Amino acid sequence: MAKTYKHYKVWLNGKVVPPEQAVITVFTQTAMRGANVYEGIRCYWNDDKKNLYVWKLDQHLKRLFESMKIMHMTAPFTFDELKKGVIDWARANEFKEDVHFRLVVYFGDGGPGGTKAYRPEEIDFGAWIDGGPRQHKDALEKGLNVCVSNWRRINDDSIPPRVKAGANYQNSRLAAIDARKNGYDDALILTRDGKLAEATGASVMMVRDGELVTPPVTSGILESITRKSLLGMAAKHRNRPPVERDIDRTELYIADELFLCGTAEEVTPVVSVDRVPVGDGKPGPVTRELQGHLFRAARGQNPDYVKDLVAIY
Ligand SMILES: Cc1ncc(COP(=O)(O)O)c(C=O)c1O
Repeated sequence: MAKTYKHYKVWLNGKVVPPEQAVITVFTQTAMRGANVYEGIRCYWNDDKKNLYVWKLDQHLKRLFESMKIMHMTAPFTFDELKKGVIDWARANEFKEDVHFRLVVYFGDGGPGGTKAYRPEEIDFGAWIDGGPRQHKDALEKGLNVCVSNWRRINDDSIPPRVKAGANYQNSRLAAIDARKNGYDDALILTRDGKLAEATGASVMMVRDGELVTPPVTSGILESITRKSLLGMAAKHRNRPPVERDIDRTELYIADELFLCGTAEEVTPVVSVDRVPVGDGKPGPVTRELQGHLFRAARGQNPDYVKDLVAIY
Protein backbone atom coordinates (compact mmCIF):
# COMPACT_ATOMS: atom_id res chain seq x y z
CA MET A 1 0.00 0.00 0.00
CA ALA A 2 1.11 3.54 -0.68
CA LYS A 3 2.29 5.55 2.31
CA THR A 4 -0.31 8.01 3.48
CA TYR A 5 -0.63 11.30 5.30
CA LYS A 6 -3.99 10.31 6.75
CA HIS A 7 -2.72 9.95 10.32
CA TYR A 8 -1.84 13.62 10.69
CA LYS A 9 -3.87 16.71 11.39
CA VAL A 10 -4.92 18.84 8.44
CA TRP A 11 -5.31 22.60 8.11
CA LEU A 12 -8.59 23.13 6.29
CA ASN A 13 -9.87 26.60 5.49
CA GLY A 14 -8.33 28.29 8.49
CA LYS A 15 -8.61 25.55 11.13
CA VAL A 16 -6.44 22.63 12.14
CA VAL A 17 -8.70 19.57 12.23
CA PRO A 18 -8.27 15.84 12.87
CA PRO A 19 -7.82 13.88 9.62
CA GLU A 20 -11.31 12.37 9.72
CA GLN A 21 -12.78 15.89 9.62
CA ALA A 22 -10.65 16.96 6.65
CA VAL A 23 -13.44 16.45 4.13
CA ILE A 24 -14.35 18.21 0.88
CA THR A 25 -17.60 17.42 -0.94
CA VAL A 26 -18.13 15.71 -4.28
CA PHE A 27 -19.76 18.95 -5.52
CA THR A 28 -16.43 20.74 -5.79
CA GLN A 29 -14.54 21.26 -9.01
CA THR A 30 -11.44 19.97 -7.28
CA ALA A 31 -13.11 16.59 -6.71
CA MET A 32 -14.66 16.44 -10.14
CA ARG A 33 -12.08 17.97 -12.45
CA GLY A 34 -8.91 18.12 -10.41
CA ALA A 35 -9.34 21.92 -10.40
CA ASN A 36 -6.75 23.11 -7.94
CA VAL A 37 -3.27 24.56 -7.73
CA TYR A 38 -0.81 23.57 -5.07
CA GLU A 39 2.70 23.51 -3.70
CA GLY A 40 4.73 20.57 -2.40
CA ILE A 41 6.97 21.88 0.39
CA ARG A 42 9.45 20.40 2.84
CA CYS A 43 10.38 21.00 6.44
CA TYR A 44 13.83 19.92 7.61
CA TRP A 45 14.61 18.88 11.15
CA ASN A 46 17.90 20.05 12.69
CA ASP A 47 18.59 17.55 15.45
CA ASP A 48 21.44 19.54 17.04
CA LYS A 49 19.38 22.67 17.47
CA LYS A 50 16.00 20.87 17.79
CA ASN A 51 14.63 23.21 15.17
CA LEU A 52 12.16 22.44 12.38
CA TYR A 53 12.58 24.69 9.34
CA VAL A 54 10.39 25.21 6.30
CA TRP A 55 12.65 25.54 3.26
CA LYS A 56 11.80 28.40 0.83
CA LEU A 57 8.26 28.93 2.09
CA ASP A 58 7.98 32.48 0.66
CA GLN A 59 9.10 31.28 -2.78
CA HIS A 60 6.50 28.49 -2.70
CA LEU A 61 3.77 30.93 -1.69
CA LYS A 62 4.83 33.31 -4.46
CA ARG A 63 4.55 30.51 -7.02
CA LEU A 64 1.18 29.46 -5.60
CA PHE A 65 -0.14 33.00 -6.09
CA GLU A 66 1.24 33.02 -9.64
CA SER A 67 -0.55 29.73 -10.37
CA MET A 68 -3.78 31.23 -8.96
CA LYS A 69 -3.37 34.37 -11.06
CA ILE A 70 -2.95 32.42 -14.30
CA MET A 71 -6.01 30.29 -13.44
CA HIS A 72 -8.12 33.37 -12.51
CA MET A 73 -8.59 32.12 -8.97
CA THR A 74 -9.54 34.42 -6.13
CA ALA A 75 -7.18 33.74 -3.25
CA PRO A 76 -9.29 32.56 -0.30
CA PHE A 77 -6.50 33.56 2.11
CA THR A 78 -3.73 36.13 1.98
CA PHE A 79 -0.05 35.27 1.64
CA ASP A 80 0.45 35.89 5.38
CA GLU A 81 -2.63 33.87 6.37
CA LEU A 82 -1.35 30.88 4.40
CA LYS A 83 2.10 31.31 5.91
CA LYS A 84 0.56 31.30 9.37
CA GLY A 85 -1.53 28.27 8.33
CA VAL A 86 1.66 26.34 7.55
CA ILE A 87 3.19 27.22 10.90
CA ASP A 88 0.00 26.40 12.83
CA TRP A 89 -0.38 23.10 10.98
CA ALA A 90 3.23 21.96 11.56
CA ARG A 91 3.14 22.98 15.25
CA ALA A 92 -0.17 21.19 15.79
CA ASN A 93 1.38 17.98 14.48
CA GLU A 94 4.46 18.39 16.73
CA PHE A 95 6.76 17.03 14.04
CA LYS A 96 10.33 16.32 15.10
CA GLU A 97 11.65 14.91 11.82
CA ASP A 98 11.76 15.78 8.12
CA VAL A 99 8.31 16.49 6.72
CA HIS A 100 6.71 16.94 3.32
CA PHE A 101 3.38 18.70 2.87
CA ARG A 102 1.02 20.05 0.25
CA LEU A 103 -0.61 23.44 0.31
CA VAL A 104 -3.59 23.29 -2.01
CA VAL A 105 -5.99 26.01 -3.18
CA TYR A 106 -9.06 24.55 -4.84
CA PHE A 107 -12.11 25.48 -6.87
CA GLY A 108 -15.26 24.77 -4.83
CA ASP A 109 -18.80 24.01 -5.97
CA GLY A 110 -19.10 24.73 -9.69
CA GLY A 111 -22.84 24.14 -10.01
CA PRO A 112 -24.44 21.64 -12.32
CA GLY A 113 -22.71 22.45 -15.57
CA GLY A 114 -20.07 24.13 -17.65
CA THR A 115 -20.89 27.83 -17.53
CA LYS A 116 -20.78 28.46 -13.81
CA ALA A 117 -17.85 26.12 -13.46
CA TYR A 118 -15.82 28.40 -15.71
CA ARG A 119 -16.84 31.67 -14.07
CA PRO A 120 -14.37 32.17 -11.25
CA GLU A 121 -16.40 35.10 -9.88
CA GLU A 122 -19.26 32.69 -9.11
CA ILE A 123 -17.21 29.97 -7.50
CA ASP A 124 -16.01 29.73 -3.95
CA PHE A 125 -12.41 28.79 -3.28
CA GLY A 126 -10.85 26.94 -0.38
CA ALA A 127 -7.47 25.73 0.81
CA TRP A 128 -5.92 22.91 2.77
CA ILE A 129 -2.56 21.74 4.06
CA ASP A 130 -1.82 18.05 4.50
CA GLY A 131 1.38 16.11 4.91
CA GLY A 132 3.55 14.05 7.18
CA PRO A 133 7.04 12.68 7.83
CA ARG A 134 9.23 11.82 4.83
CA GLN A 135 12.28 9.67 5.36
CA HIS A 136 15.57 9.85 3.51
CA LYS A 137 15.22 7.82 0.30
CA ASP A 138 17.68 5.09 -0.76
CA ALA A 139 17.64 6.58 -4.26
CA LEU A 140 19.59 9.59 -2.98
CA GLU A 141 22.60 7.26 -2.69
CA LYS A 142 21.79 4.53 -5.19
CA GLY A 143 20.32 6.61 -7.98
CA LEU A 144 17.49 5.92 -10.40
CA ASN A 145 17.20 3.98 -13.63
CA VAL A 146 14.96 6.02 -15.93
CA CYS A 147 13.64 5.89 -19.47
CA VAL A 148 12.72 8.54 -21.98
CA SER A 149 8.94 8.43 -22.13
CA ASN A 150 7.03 8.18 -25.37
CA TRP A 151 4.41 10.43 -23.77
CA ARG A 152 5.12 14.10 -24.56
CA ARG A 153 5.12 16.94 -22.05
CA ILE A 154 2.10 19.22 -21.71
CA ASN A 155 2.70 22.62 -23.25
CA ASP A 156 2.21 26.30 -22.36
CA ASP A 157 -0.42 26.68 -25.10
CA SER A 158 -2.66 23.91 -23.75
CA ILE A 159 -2.08 22.88 -20.13
CA PRO A 160 0.69 25.17 -18.91
CA PRO A 161 3.28 23.28 -16.84
CA ARG A 162 4.30 26.58 -15.21
CA VAL A 163 1.01 26.39 -13.28
CA LYS A 164 1.38 23.78 -10.56
CA ALA A 165 -2.12 22.39 -11.05
CA GLY A 166 -3.26 19.03 -9.75
CA ALA A 167 -4.65 18.15 -13.19
CA ASN A 168 -1.20 18.54 -14.82
CA TYR A 169 -0.18 15.33 -13.11
CA GLN A 170 -2.31 13.27 -15.50
CA ASN A 171 0.62 13.75 -17.87
CA SER A 172 3.10 12.62 -15.21
CA ARG A 173 0.86 9.70 -14.25
CA LEU A 174 0.75 8.32 -17.79
CA ALA A 175 4.52 8.60 -18.16
CA ALA A 176 5.27 7.16 -14.70
CA ILE A 177 2.91 4.19 -15.06
CA ASP A 178 4.42 3.34 -18.41
CA ALA A 179 7.97 3.64 -17.04
CA ARG A 180 7.25 1.36 -14.08
CA LYS A 181 5.48 -1.21 -16.25
CA ASN A 182 8.66 -1.39 -18.29
CA GLY A 183 10.89 -1.82 -15.24
CA TYR A 184 12.18 1.75 -14.82
CA ASP A 185 12.03 3.93 -11.71
CA ASP A 186 10.84 7.06 -13.49
CA ALA A 187 10.55 8.76 -16.87
CA LEU A 188 12.10 11.77 -18.52
CA ILE A 189 9.58 13.56 -20.71
CA LEU A 190 10.37 15.41 -23.93
CA THR A 191 8.64 18.44 -25.41
CA ARG A 192 6.81 18.22 -28.74
CA ASP A 193 10.10 19.37 -30.32
CA GLY A 194 11.93 16.41 -28.85
CA LYS A 195 13.94 18.44 -26.32
CA LEU A 196 14.17 17.41 -22.68
CA ALA A 197 11.45 18.98 -20.52
CA GLU A 198 11.56 17.31 -17.09
CA ALA A 199 10.82 14.15 -15.12
CA THR A 200 7.34 13.24 -13.85
CA GLY A 201 7.76 15.30 -10.67
CA ALA A 202 11.15 16.98 -10.84
CA SER A 203 13.49 19.11 -12.92
CA VAL A 204 16.51 17.54 -14.58
CA MET A 205 20.14 18.65 -14.62
CA MET A 206 23.04 17.21 -16.60
CA VAL A 207 26.81 17.54 -16.33
CA ARG A 208 28.73 17.41 -19.61
CA ASP A 209 32.45 18.06 -19.71
CA GLY A 210 32.29 19.78 -16.36
CA GLU A 211 29.43 22.10 -17.30
CA LEU A 212 26.14 21.97 -15.39
CA VAL A 213 23.26 22.23 -17.87
CA THR A 214 19.49 22.36 -17.40
CA PRO A 215 16.60 23.16 -19.77
CA PRO A 216 15.27 26.75 -19.68
CA VAL A 217 11.99 27.66 -17.97
CA THR A 218 10.36 27.89 -21.43
CA SER A 219 10.87 24.19 -22.14
CA GLY A 220 7.63 22.80 -20.74
CA ILE A 221 8.73 22.68 -17.11
CA LEU A 222 7.46 23.77 -13.77
CA GLU A 223 9.58 26.72 -12.63
CA SER A 224 11.16 24.63 -9.92
CA ILE A 225 12.29 26.28 -6.73
CA THR A 226 14.94 23.61 -6.14
CA ARG A 227 16.25 24.11 -9.68
CA LYS A 228 16.63 27.82 -9.03
CA SER A 229 18.32 27.21 -5.66
CA LEU A 230 20.80 24.77 -7.21
CA LEU A 231 21.59 27.11 -10.10
CA GLY A 232 22.40 29.78 -7.51
CA MET A 233 24.52 27.36 -5.46
CA ALA A 234 26.36 26.15 -8.56
CA ALA A 235 27.04 29.75 -9.66
CA LYS A 236 28.44 30.52 -6.23
CA HIS A 237 30.46 27.38 -5.48
CA ARG A 238 31.58 25.96 -8.83
CA ASN A 239 34.22 27.51 -11.03
CA ARG A 240 32.02 27.31 -14.18
CA PRO A 241 28.67 29.08 -14.35
CA PRO A 242 25.65 26.79 -14.90
CA VAL A 243 23.96 26.97 -18.30
CA GLU A 244 20.25 27.00 -19.16
CA ARG A 245 19.77 25.62 -22.67
CA ASP A 246 17.85 22.96 -24.58
CA ILE A 247 19.00 19.38 -24.03
CA ASP A 248 18.72 16.80 -26.82
CA ARG A 249 17.75 13.19 -26.08
CA THR A 250 21.11 11.86 -27.29
CA GLU A 251 22.96 14.10 -24.81
CA LEU A 252 21.35 12.08 -22.03
CA TYR A 253 23.27 9.00 -23.21
CA ILE A 254 26.66 10.74 -23.21
CA ALA A 255 26.25 12.93 -20.13
CA ASP A 256 28.85 12.48 -17.36
CA GLU A 257 26.19 12.98 -14.69
CA LEU A 258 22.46 13.40 -14.57
CA PHE A 259 20.16 14.07 -11.65
CA LEU A 260 16.59 14.97 -10.78
CA CYS A 261 15.92 17.93 -8.53
CA GLY A 262 12.81 19.07 -6.77
CA THR A 263 11.16 19.31 -3.38
CA ALA A 264 10.24 15.63 -3.38
CA GLU A 265 13.32 14.32 -5.22
CA GLU A 266 15.76 16.74 -3.56
CA VAL A 267 18.92 15.92 -5.58
CA THR A 268 18.52 12.33 -6.80
CA PRO A 269 21.17 10.86 -9.10
CA VAL A 270 20.13 9.17 -12.35
CA VAL A 271 22.43 6.23 -13.07
CA SER A 272 20.99 5.05 -16.38
CA VAL A 273 18.74 6.29 -19.17
CA ASP A 274 17.04 3.70 -21.40
CA ARG A 275 19.46 1.17 -19.80
CA VAL A 276 22.49 3.15 -21.02
CA PRO A 277 24.70 3.92 -17.98
CA VAL A 278 25.16 7.59 -17.17
CA GLY A 279 28.94 8.15 -16.93
CA ASP A 280 30.32 5.16 -15.05
CA GLY A 281 26.83 4.21 -13.82
CA LYS A 282 27.36 5.67 -10.34
CA PRO A 283 26.29 8.98 -8.78
CA GLY A 284 28.89 11.59 -9.78
CA PRO A 285 30.86 14.23 -7.85
CA VAL A 286 28.88 17.30 -8.96
CA THR A 287 25.63 15.60 -7.97
CA ARG A 288 27.12 14.76 -4.56
CA GLU A 289 28.43 18.28 -4.10
CA LEU A 290 25.05 19.85 -4.86
CA GLN A 291 23.26 17.37 -2.57
CA GLY A 292 25.57 18.54 0.21
CA HIS A 293 24.92 22.24 -0.46
CA LEU A 294 21.15 21.75 -0.55
CA PHE A 295 20.92 19.68 2.63
CA ARG A 296 23.21 21.96 4.64
CA ALA A 297 21.22 25.01 3.55
CA ALA A 298 17.81 23.46 4.22
CA ARG A 299 18.81 22.20 7.68
CA GLY A 300 20.03 25.62 8.76
CA GLN A 301 23.71 24.60 8.69
CA ASN A 302 24.82 27.30 6.25
CA PRO A 303 24.33 30.88 7.51
CA ASP A 304 24.09 32.19 3.92
CA TYR A 305 20.68 30.54 3.55
CA VAL A 306 19.09 31.27 6.92
CA LYS A 307 16.97 33.92 5.13
CA ASP A 308 15.37 31.07 3.15
CA LEU A 309 14.12 29.28 6.25
CA VAL A 310 11.04 29.77 8.39
CA ALA A 311 11.44 28.22 11.84
CA ILE A 312 8.42 26.28 13.11
CA TYR A 313 10.21 25.89 16.44
C1 LIG B 1 6.57 18.42 -12.63
C2 LIG B 1 7.50 18.96 -11.61
N1 LIG B 1 8.63 19.56 -12.00
C3 LIG B 1 9.50 20.07 -11.12
C4 LIG B 1 9.28 19.98 -9.77
C5 LIG B 1 10.26 20.56 -8.81
O1 LIG B 1 9.79 21.79 -8.35
P1 LIG B 1 10.19 22.32 -6.91
O2 LIG B 1 11.68 22.32 -6.88
O3 LIG B 1 9.65 23.68 -6.85
O4 LIG B 1 9.61 21.38 -5.94
C6 LIG B 1 8.11 19.35 -9.30
C7 LIG B 1 7.84 19.23 -7.88
O5 LIG B 1 7.12 19.97 -7.33
C8 LIG B 1 7.21 18.84 -10.25
O6 LIG B 1 6.08 18.24 -9.85
